[in-house]
Amino acid sequence: MSSLQIRKITPGFGAEITGIDLTRPLTPDQEADIVSAIAEYGVCVYPHTGLTDQTHIWFSRMFGNLWTIGGQATRPSRFAYPHLFEAGNLSPDGSISMDEMARKRRKGDRLWHTDSSFTKERTTYSLLLAHEVPAEGGETGFADMRGAYDALPQSMKDRIEHLEAEHSYNYSRMLAGFPITEEEVEAGMIARHKLVHIHPGSGRKSLYIASHALRITGMEKEEGRALLRELLAFATQPQFTFNHYWKPGDLVIWDNFSTMHRGGDYDDLNHRRDMRRTTVMAYPPPPVVLDPRFRDRFDPAQFEAMVDA
Ligand code: OGA
Ligand code: MN
Repeated sequence: MSSLQIRKITPGFGAEITGIDLTRPLTPDQEADIVSAIAEYGVCVYPHTGLTDQTHIWFSRMFGNLWTIGGQATRPSRFAYPHLFEAGNLSPDGSISMDEMARKRRKGDRLWHTDSSFTKERTTYSLLLAHEVPAEGGETGFADMRGAYDALPQSMKDRIEHLEAEHSYNYSRMLAGFPITEEEVEAGMIARHKLVHIHPGSGRKSLYIASHALRITGMEKEEGRALLRELLAFATQPQFTFNHYWKPGDLVIWDNFSTMHRGGDYDDLNHRRDMRRTTVMAYPPPPVVLDPRFRDRFDPAQFEAMVDA
């Protein structure tokens, strides 16, 4: 019996979870229920959590090591913690950002993607907390990559089973209109991952695609892009997707290894959207996964298999 109250959002994908106070310390059983829920549903919506920056980070740590902005940071952050990623439209002083380059870069997040596929190490879970939301728009769309994989024709499953895709952050920015050339994309960081993988936590097969994917390894570039476009279009059909319309205090956790997401349009020059994200490194797995008491729920080998995959 789960300690959580779970309401499914679609028959096989997404759940709204209540009946738990995320601002309080949790027991190992509660942690196992929370990790089981994300493994099963792919996206978990926790409404009006009451989380602050500090408790958002504390809660996120039960999933593993957190991404930090670290030495790569080239722009100042408005946050007191290096674990928080800016997913809104505010500048370091807290006012609406008028920085045209930052706006163009953010436009890339309106394309279907999964976080950090352009890095070798990758991140599993993203935990996005709404602080302030625009009156209209600014929803987030989610897509089910296990459901989409299951529904592919067998001929397509056979075709893609052993393929790998190469991912670049700069490529999705280019697609969204950010001024960057194909040559600059090629010269930048590119990470290669399997197109189909076994999802850690459920053991189901999942597509691992994103607008960051710029080619299929070993395939002629245009042919690879056509295949990627076909898979993206297939996997984001209405039967595999839903939108979350945010209220302040909502925390949405998604599993980057079994889902994609995209930001919705909104009037970002006139309306504040204060959204802060923590992101969990894919390795090591959440501590409860390695806890012998939960061996009947989790297969640690599935999580290990994602390292360098
Ligand atoms: C993200 C992201 C979209 C949104 O935080 O990773 O893509 O709607 N966000 O804020
Ligand atoms: Mn994202």
